[in-house]
Amino acid sequence: MNFAPLKNDRFLRALRRQPVDATPVWIMRQAGRYLPEYRATRARAGSFLALAKTPELACEVTLQPLDRFDLDAAILFSDILTVPDAMGLGLYFADGEGPKFERPIRSEADVNRLAVPDMASELGYVMDAVTLIRRELQGRVPLIGFSGSPWTLACYMVEGGGSENFSRIKAMALNSPQVLHKLLAVTTDAVIAYLAAQRAAGAQALQVFDTWGGVLSPRLYREFSLHYMARIAAELDRGTDEQNTPLILFGKGNAAYLEALAATGTEAVGVDWLVDLGEARARTRGCVALQGNLDPVTLYAEPETIRTEVAATLDSYGHGPGHVFNLGHGVSPDMNPDHVRVLVDAVHEYSSNKI
Ligand code: CP3
Repeated sequence: MNFAPLKNDRFLRALRRQPVDATPVWIMRQAGRYLPEYRATRARAGSFLALAKTPELACEVTLQPLDRFDLDAAILFSDILTVPDAMGLGLYFADGEGPKFERPIRSEADVNRLAVPDMASELGYVMDAVTLIRRELQGRVPLIGFSGSPWTLACYMVEGGGSENFSRIKAMALNSPQVLHKLLAVTTDAVIAYLAAQRAAGAQALQVFDTWGGVLSPRLYREFSLHYMARIAAELDRGTDEQNTPLILFGKGNAAYLEALAATGTEAVGVDWLVDLGEARARTRGCVALQGNLDPVTLYAEPETIRTEVAATLDSYGHGPGHVFNLGHGVSPDMNPDHVRVLVDAVHEYSSNKI
């Protein structure tokens, strides 16, 4: 496909650990309910799922935060749960209760019925959105595609929705690990196909969200989460040259596993705010770029405090390439958009004076 040349490549350069004029910044959930224009488009769509499944509307909300803030990357507006939905689980959102599945995975027979969905027929709306967004961006900034990690997707597939203590999937891990491995294996195949299809449709970087890896004990993390992310890093073709499509493995609660994540062959690791970036950098020895990691709650603070905290985060990373600024997790619906602007501008101002 032929797209306009990139005007701002700071984000991709940082992921490739090349020098940049200022630290690039984007924000997880940058298109979301904290923006009044998002709420207006969502109301027009009728529901979150209708919004995510209509490429023109998904494109519209993807671009909204870029029109407001000086962000260095766009992220596809979609959801990680599109993949299990396409595998036949029946995703729906109960009002105020978050995502749920009509047909959760509860037995080996349920797992045996799963197959890698056909990307064109089952997830074509996602690929259409990727291509449309890439076209509408006209090279302003790169477009990030994404997927949930196999473990995080399996959490929702087995629990049937969000969970307090992950009792069902942890019981499966302990009582019938071979069933869970079968589930994770087919989900990993689906994730790899999904990310490859987004890349083919125009995504210029790819992020895997391992939101729930951190709820596992270290032994179970390595067996049920890390192993499958390593498979993605090893098996997903993302090119080798200057035109490669960098992969970011983000995980909440992954501070203990940075060396292991860097050893997967991923280009970048996304970290939450529970680890010092300088320490993360020392431990990963320049083998990967790092993305993060301001505590999202900082956005509730006064602008002056936000600037101080941004500077502290940039200082903790230190000089030299390989840093993408982000929050340690997503922006919340009750956060003030003006504070997001303060953050984004502070990252550019402080880092361009520092570099
Ligand atoms: O970052 C972005 O701007 C891209 C869009 C994006 C969404 N979800 C939009 C969304 C991304 C990358 C996701 C990923 C996602 N979805 C994750 C992993 C990231 C993370 O937060 O750790 C998870 C666990 C999900 C599952 C999911 N979808 C949840 C828990 C919720 C929130 C439910 C709620 O009501 O709070 C969703 C819905 C969702 N996905 C919303 C958005 C903007 C809110 C839906 C709405 O408009 O009502």
